[in-house]
Amino acid sequence: MIDVLLGLQWGDEGKGKVVDVLSPRYDIVARYQGGPNAGHTIIIDGVKQVLHLIPSGIFHAPSVCVIGNGVVIDPVTLKKEILSLEAAGIEVRSRLLISDRAHLILPTHKLLDAASEKAKGEKKIGSTLRGIGPTYMDKTGRNGFRVGDLSHRDSEERYNVLVQKHQRLIQQYDYEYNLQESQAGFHEALDFLRGMKRINSEQYLNDAMTGGKKILAEGAQGTLLDIDFGTYPYVTSSNTTSAGACIGLGIAPRHIRKVYGIFKAYCTRVGSGPFPTELDNDMGELIRKQGGEFGATTGRPRRTGWLDLPLLKYAVTLNGVTDLIMTKADVLSGLDEVQYAYAYKTSNGIEETCPYDLSDSDIQPLYKSAPSWGNVSEAKSYDEIPDTLKNYIGTIEEYTGQKTSFVSLGPDRSQIVERA
Ligand code: IMP
Repeated sequence: MIDVLLGLQWGDEGKGKVVDVLSPRYDIVARYQGGPNAGHTIIIDGVKQVLHLIPSGIFHAPSVCVIGNGVVIDPVTLKKEILSLEAAGIEVRSRLLISDRAHLILPTHKLLDAASEKAKGEKKIGSTLRGIGPTYMDKTGRNGFRVGDLSHRDSEERYNVLVQKHQRLIQQYDYEYNLQESQAGFHEALDFLRGMKRINSEQYLNDAMTGGKKILAEGAQGTLLDIDFGTYPYVTSSNTTSAGACIGLGIAPRHIRKVYGIFKAYCTRVGSGPFPTELDNDMGELIRKQGGEFGATTGRPRRTGWLDLPLLKYAVTLNGVTDLIMTKADVLSGLDEVQYAYAYKTSNGIEETCPYDLSDSDIQPLYKSAPSWGNVSEAKSYDEIPDTLKNYIGTIEEYTGQKTSFVSLGPDRSQIVERA
């Protein structure tokens, strides 16, 4: 059996912390898409840990962590992450399994990402510049370099052919670079990766399920960044939705039991693209400050805004969410009131569905307000949270038709309540 856990907004919903809390319930935690553009932050006993590639289950031995075929791997980041976890006393190498089918991010993929973003000027995606888009382009263009290729006799030649292709592409842009500098540490990291446990992860996961093991599939980014259903073209290059777990791990849909959908009590977005409920004012600044809303990967300030119920419902539908998880409810504590969008005013009238083009200037969110709540960070059970927060959750449940199973009330792994 496999449960999926993913973000329902534009990423940064707090997936890392929730996976960390849930992973003792699973034997295996598997990442299925994205790459080091993700930054999953976990605070354990006041010490902050940020993971970019390794599933957040790594903090709970003996659970096994799998990087699935749908993930794109930067060997340099992976090596750094492993060494840093090991320095913190965490056993990684015996517990981390990497799919042979996962594609590798080459230094020239990162150069291409930067060159392409620069060329877009005002229209840039706001990419994390980790080489994600160009690597997925090579994957779908059937040119990619995979983890399994590291064992081939001609792996060096394949690498060189791809680099030369990238160099020709970069020439199309007005972009200066130093290939040697950008490759620093890359080949050492490839050797390091050769020494890791590289497996046929689809077989491993299916055998594990047959043997009765429980698997948690961990998503990265969020539904509104999905390549098909997100705010295209301001999206990432993978399927962040629950269907992506089937493709990114080689799991059949019938094995999926629960889909945990995580959302913040408000919204954030990092990078460019439409954000109808954005608060470009003092309230937005206050939420950014109280919520520590700065990117875990790039450090960029996140854009902030009110909860958007039409988009949340869209995400719940696309993913087949069975359990909602609200995070960062504590960030809105002490406000006079909170607001949420319940519909859009469009040129076609009032709509509760997700419009095709959210950047259309005719689209205006319509808001309702609700009373806020006091300090919630000490609550130890769902019963202890204030009625005003329970009512806010009730409004969301009624709108989306799904129940909330957990409410996260602070950054520490202990600050979360489960609803019976
Ligand atoms: P890329 O995936 O790095 O190319 O970035 C594409 C878009 O997705 C940009 O707007 C990024 O800011 C956003 N993005 C990528 N990864 C994350 C994430 O883990 N959290 C939030 N936003 C992300």
